[in-house]
Amino acid sequence: MDTSRRTVLAAAAATGLMAAATGTAYASGGRQPVRELFGTLADGTKVHRWTLQNGGTRLKVLSYGGIVQSLEIPDRRGRYANVSLGFDDLDAYVSSSPYFGALIGRYGNRIGGGRFTLDGEEYRLSVNDGQNSLHGGAEGFDKRVWDVEPFTDRTGVGLVLRYVSADGEMGYPGTLKVAVTYTLTPRGDWRIDYTATTDRATVVNLTNHTYYNLAGEGAGDILGHELRLAASRYTPADATLIPTGELAGVAGTPFDFRQRKRIGDGIRTAHPQLVLAKGYDHNWVLDKGVTDRPQPVAWLRDPQSGRTMTIATTEPGVQFYSGNFLDGTLAGPSGRTYRQGDGLCLETQHFPDSPNRPAFPSTVLRPGGTYRSTTVHGFSAR
Ligand code: BGC
Repeated sequence: MDTSRRTVLAAAAATGLMAAATGTAYASGGRQPVRELFGTLADGTKVHRWTLQNGGTRLKVLSYGGIVQSLEIPDRRGRYANVSLGFDDLDAYVSSSPYFGALIGRYGNRIGGGRFTLDGEEYRLSVNDGQNSLHGGAEGFDKRVWDVEPFTDRTGVGLVLRYVSADGEMGYPGTLKVAVTYTLTPRGDWRIDYTATTDRATVVNLTNHTYYNLAGEGAGDILGHELRLAASRYTPADATLIPTGELAGVAGTPFDFRQRKRIGDGIRTAHPQLVLAKGYDHNWVLDKGVTDRPQPVAWLRDPQSGRTMTIATTEPGVQFYSGNFLDGTLAGPSGRTYRQGDGLCLETQHFPDSPNRPAFPSTVLRPGGTYRSTTVHGFSAR
């Protein structure tokens, strides 16, 4: 090896670019994450947008809220579309986003009455959904600026997002140190690994709130999408969408997605649970339960484009929300407005209101323990 080449390699290794220089992560088309300025918050904080590309998938992520601002995947003829609802400017995310693409915490979904008791002490949370606390309260993790560190290694191309939630923030006990890794793998899967530790007993339930439309954002509704969910039961809810505690069987109801089914087939059924939620907005109890490794639980396909997404998770539940509250008042990057059912969420999670339901899988995290959760989204087209 001549001296100049050795010098270049030494410099590359010293600056952490060795993987890039040796080409390992580029074999499948991966590139170093690229950062650009996306906007500036009222207090002067700069918000960046990171672009990740690997294995035929492109993901754009904001340091604000860990928001997936764009997810581009090809259809069966190789034509790309952004399949996630969102905005192209920061102000819209700050002022009016129904959690488009966001990282949700400290507790995804609802906690009834905005309160819970842990080790004999009652905690009162930020209430932002009638009497309930939704998605971590008025200023949840979706409204925080995350510290972002890019990486390129054998696992793929990605970002580690970090946030420290102070003791008492939004009413939750314990300083929570959170790290969320978004990886685009060499085969183009989008993998999310969540970890958290605490210095006092607390509750944790982290998820991502991307709204999918596999035909492309702004392309119309998702009623023609086909869905399969590996769940024989779901958690019926009261009028404020807090689980009643019952684990009800899906057999013979519009909640049965054990065989793939068009979402539109049952959504207008006058089933009391569909009436109160204005569509699907429920937690499915995954048959596999909590697992150490992610296992396949959901399959979603747009028959027109052929775009297909599979979801594997370690979590015991998934909230299938059919975009019921989109009302035509928000417009996406395409310039088209989002109306009811124009996108759907599949939020892997522990069950809503678990801190008040001892019979549900526990969401308690104690000092010395580590919260871990993984969800993998796979994409194909056929
Ligand atoms: C909830 C919906 C809520 C939506 C916010 C979903 O996770 O289940 O009830 O309206 O988030 O946009």
